[in-house]
Amino acid sequence: MSPKELQEKVSKVLKKHGNDKSLLVDILQDIQTEIGYLPKEILAETGKQMGVPVSRVYSVATFFKAFSLTERGRHLINVCMGTACHVRGAVKVLEKIEQELNINRGETTKDLKFTLETVNCVGACALGPMVIIGKDYHGEMTPEGIVSVLKEYN
Ligand code: FES
Repeated sequence: MSPKELQEKVSKVLKKHGNDKSLLVDILQDIQTEIGYLPKEILAETGKQMGVPVSRVYSVATFFKAFSLTERGRHLINVCMGTACHVRGAVKVLEKIEQELNINRGETTKDLKFTLETVNCVGACALGPMVIIGKDYHGEMTPEGIVSVLKEYN
């Protein structure tokens, strides 16, 4: 993205929020929706246009788990590592995904297809181990089962 495009993306979102400094979280959320993640150039541009120190923008962007400073895959995989899922074998499912995709948790595949993360309890403990891909909930997951589930995603 060129510097001009960066400026325009940020300006567009700021205009919507009236450049209200108290809405920094909402502004970053909208920028992330526009671009898919929050590259450091965007954080710098946001700080500049808002008149907010970049260090403050950066600390907000790194504080909230919903924000990503690196490019994410088209499909976000969340493996539940809550107690119920853990005792039902979530670790083995997670390890199988890491092995299949050749990434560790917190990482994105090189082809930008998947990002792998973990969560703690999604409220479906009886169906554990739970793996959530995008908006799809996959319950009673096994290392073998997850391999075929991953193939359903393009
Ligand atoms: S512990 Fe996984 S859904 Fe509750």
